[in-house]
Amino acid sequence: MKKMIPDFKKMSEQENKITMLTAYDFPTARIMEKAGVDVILVGDSLGMVVLGYDSTVPVTMEDMLHHAKAVRRGAPNTFMIVDMPYLTYARPEDALRNAGRLMQEGGADAVKLEGGEEYREIVSFLTKAGIPVVGHIGLTPQTAGLLGGYKVQGTEIHSASKLLRDAGMLAQAGVFMLVLEAIPALLAAKITQSISVPTIGIGAGNQCDGQVLVIHDMIGASDKTVPTFVKQYAMIEPLIVDAVQKYCEEVKDTAFPSDKHSFSMKEEVLNKLT
Ligand code: KIV
Repeated sequence: MKKMIPDFKKMSEQENKITMLTAYDFPTARIMEKAGVDVILVGDSLGMVVLGYDSTVPVTMEDMLHHAKAVRRGAPNTFMIVDMPYLTYARPEDALRNAGRLMQEGGADAVKLEGGEEYREIVSFLTKAGIPVVGHIGLTPQTAGLLGGYKVQGTEIHSASKLLRDAGMLAQAGVFMLVLEAIPALLAAKITQSISVPTIGIGAGNQCDGQVLVIHDMIGASDKTVPTFVKQYAMIEPLIVDAVQKYCEEVKDTAFPSDKHSFSMKEEVLNKLT
C-alpha cells in the first residue's frame, strides 16, 4: 500500500526506518515498487547520473517533469518526491508555480528543495499553499561551489551550529521530512533528536530516521568512483559491458541471430517467389 505523509512520522516514532532511493525512469521505478521501497526520489542528480552533466545546475523544470512522469507511470503506488531544480524556487511566486507543476503535471506527492534558514519563508509559503515540502541540508549539490566542493559539512562548531539551527527552522516552517547529506553521524543524530520531522540520511550515519542513496551508485551502474558513504550492493556496469561485447562479437561472426531468434517460412512459399 502506498505510504503517505503521516505514515513517515509514525515510522520514525516506531523506529521503523524509512527506505528511499532515487529513480529517473519507468523500468527502474517499476523495480523499486516491486522491491517495496518506501519512497522514490526523482532527484536532480538526474543531471549527473543520467544526462551526463558535471553538476546538477543545468537541470531544468522540463527535465524533471519528463522524468517524474515516467517514474510515476512505473510506480503508481509509491510515494514520490521530486527535486526542484536550481533557481526554480528562489522567489516565492516562482517556487509556487514550479512546485505546482511538479505536483500537477509530474505526479509528485511532494517536492524537495535545498537550503537552510534562508529558505524558511519559501517553505512556509509553499506548505501554506498545500504543497508538501522536504528540506535538504548539509552538502547541497546545487550550491556545492559555495560550500567548497563535494565534501563533508558541519565538522566545525560554526557550521555544525548553523546546520542544527537550519534543521529547526525548516521544521518550524513546515517541511515534513529533512534530508541530511554528508554530515558527521553524531551531528545527524543530534539533529534527528532535536526536530519532530523524520530525517533521511545520505552520508549521515545510521541514526537518521531513514536512508537514501542514488540508485546508479548503489548498483554500480557507472565506472565513476562513488562517494565513500555509498555501499555498492551490485556492480552492473561490467555485466552490461560484457553483454554488449558478446552481442557485438556474435553479430560480427553471424552466431547471432541463430535459428532460435529468427522466423521461419515454408520452403514452398519461398520457391514461389520470383
Ligand atoms: O538529487 C538527489 O539525488 C538527491 C539525493 C542525493 C538526496 O538530492
